[in-house]
Amino acid sequence: MTLRAVVSGIGSFLPAQIVTNDDLVARGLKTSHEWIIQRTGIAQRHVAAEGEFTSDLATKAAQAALKNAGLDIQDVDMIVVATTTPDNIFPSTAVRVQAKLGLDRGFAFDVQAVCSGFVYALAMADNFIRLGQVKTALVIGAETLSRLIDWEDRSTCFLFGDGAGAFVLQAQEGKGDVSDQGILSTHLHSDGKGYDSLYVDGGPGSTGTCGTIYMNGKDVFRHAVTRLSQVVDEALAAHDLSSDAVDWLVPHQANERIIAGIAKKLHLPPERVVTTIAQHANTSAASIPLALDAVLAEGKIKRGQLLLLDAMGGGFTWGAALVRW
Ligand code: ACO
Repeated sequence: MTLRAVVSGIGSFLPAQIVTNDDLVARGLKTSHEWIIQRTGIAQRHVAAEGEFTSDLATKAAQAALKNAGLDIQDVDMIVVATTTPDNIFPSTAVRVQAKLGLDRGFAFDVQAVCSGFVYALAMADNFIRLGQVKTALVIGAETLSRLIDWEDRSTCFLFGDGAGAFVLQAQEGKGDVSDQGILSTHLHSDGKGYDSLYVDGGPGSTGTCGTIYMNGKDVFRHAVTRLSQVVDEALAAHDLSSDAVDWLVPHQANERIIAGIAKKLHLPPERVVTTIAQHANTSAASIPLALDAVLAEGKIKRGQLLLLDAMGGGFTWGAALVRW
């Protein structure tokens, strides 16, 4: 008998305010809609309102996921929130979400792996479930990256957006092969030598301030394509699968050209790639569940299909998960 973590519910939330590329131009940023679209595929991003925190976005996504799973919050044993933009340094955003959801049992913690955060959090929850320590987990990716952006820095500000997405995972017995429903495997990596290529230039231990995002875009781009190519190969090889077995690529939404590069490598046509970057921009740890929830609403993804999730972020961190939906 193999215990599997099955995704029994999914939900997402986007703040109401939308900022288009043309809005950025209207604010005086020296850029254009055409430049941003050509380089990244991004047309707009959602931005949280003043007083709207990462925990608010996370709570709303979690409520939607619980509703989708048909579960009550008291059924949840564990909450893990992947975020780079916590409400406060401590306590964790996850415990705040726990309180907002009204859960008075179980345990909650944050995971910080920047844009790979959701895949990391999924791996945490999957391992707790496989070990039999947890029956039901809420895995949330939630970000208010707009708070870390220098809106006058035209080399970074157009890339990011705010949002949240959540999975409900439930333990279910499987046969132990690739026909099982649920998470088949997760694959995590990091390489701290990439620290200076993408970072926030502040923190409680260094400047005592929050800081803003700095990025060497070309370096990030190159590493993303290389590392993601490696990790999708690793995920498929772990099950002796070829890319033909993949029904859907569900990538972190960083850049349309990075996504297209990985899809091409897997010989997946664009219609089998989940892409919401035009509407959401890069929502870091939130992007995978947010994108998947949006595309699921279109009814194209069916239960039993094989999903390959991949993500790469600051650190560098990167990872993949194979999930039978
Ligand atoms: N509008 C117009 N022109 C601009 C802008 C802008 N917003 N920003 C830069 N430029 C100019 C530059 O000044 C430069 O002009 P020059 O040739 O006269 O010097 C020119 O455009 C080219 O600039 P580059 O920085 O070389 O542009 P590049 O083609 O590398 O594209 C980009 C930049 C889009 C950031 C690209 O490097 C990229 O997508 N990198 C990946 C970054 C990423 O995905 N980050 C997400 C976070 S990490 C993650 O989630 C994986």
